[in-house]
Amino acid sequence: MSRPVLRVAVGIALGCLLVAPFALAEEAEDPFADADLENAAEINEVCAGCHGEYGQGGKDGEYPRLAGLPAAFIARQLDLFRARERENLAMVEHTDHRQMPDSDIRDISAFLAAIELPSRLPPVDETAADFNAYERLMATKRIVQIPRAEGDAVVGERIYDKECASCHGRDGLGRERDAVPMLAGQYTGYMLRQVDKYIDKRRVHDPSDPDAEELLAAFTAEELRDIFAYLSILDD
Ligand code: HEC
Ligand code: HEC
Repeated sequence: MSRPVLRVAVGIALGCLLVAPFALAEEAEDPFADADLENAAEINEVCAGCHGEYGQGGKDGEYPRLAGLPAAFIARQLDLFRARERENLAMVEHTDHRQMPDSDIRDISAFLAAIELPSRLPPVDETAADFNAYERLMATKRIVQIPRAEGDAVVGERIYDKECASCHGRDGLGRERDAVPMLAGQYTGYMLRQVDKYIDKRRVHDPSDPDAEELLAAFTAEELRDIFAYLSILDD
């Protein structure tokens, strides 16, 4: 082996040795890795009364969609409800320590985060011999397609890309790693209610970034409407 090649080989080997333990440590730290999904399915029977069987939300956003939110985000909201730091009369009785120990929060958060909801049904041939009407009906229940909200989506896109995309993602799907929730695929009315809460300081927008606090208050009602009009078409 010539010297430069040897040097590269040694470099790569050392690199692996250095990186491997960190990669392992990160894996071991995933607090949701050993979630008990059977227990979660039982807990979800309670949640389903309001949020739907698949965490799809309900009543046009009176109950938010939970499916596909980052597990760490769901867990943090449950902690906040339990500590009464985020008000929510509907949920208080479900989140006290007796009803919901930390291990339950871990389980249900991992369970809901893993549910994928399509925004449209794949086309099928209803006259085909193997067409199953019941299966089709069940699949329909999982569809979440946010209706187009009023406002100028073109203006909304411009504001969104500049002011929101850095955290919530260009595609509006949030960031699992940093527990940032998706905004595309969430109900417009629900999100507008949350914006009011952030502006009135009844919720904290981004605990790690004090500027996010003031961000939403800086927009006019019309600009906010435009942002959410844009978000409502992202899942089309
Ligand atoms: C009685 C109805 C009801 C039940 C049962 C219920 N929730 Fe909720 N939940 C709500 C409402 C209403 C909100 C929205 C509150 C708001 O507007 O801030 C909410 C909000 C949430 C949020 C915040 C979502 C977000 O995007 O910020 C999470 C997470 C959540 N619920 C999880 C659960 C879990 C897990 C269960 C089952 C253990 C559950 N909920 C049971 C009514 C309910
Ligand atoms: C610095 C990062 C950052 C920026 C920029 C940002 N957000 Fe957020 N946003 C977050 C985080 C983190 C959360 C979750 C906060 C929590 O735990 O309550 C959040 C939550 C939200 C929620 C509530 C979602 C839910 O399911 O409860 C809405 C609505 C929202 N943001 C809208 C916006 C809009 C609109 C913009 C741009 C004008 C924006 N955000 C810009 C970090 C950010």
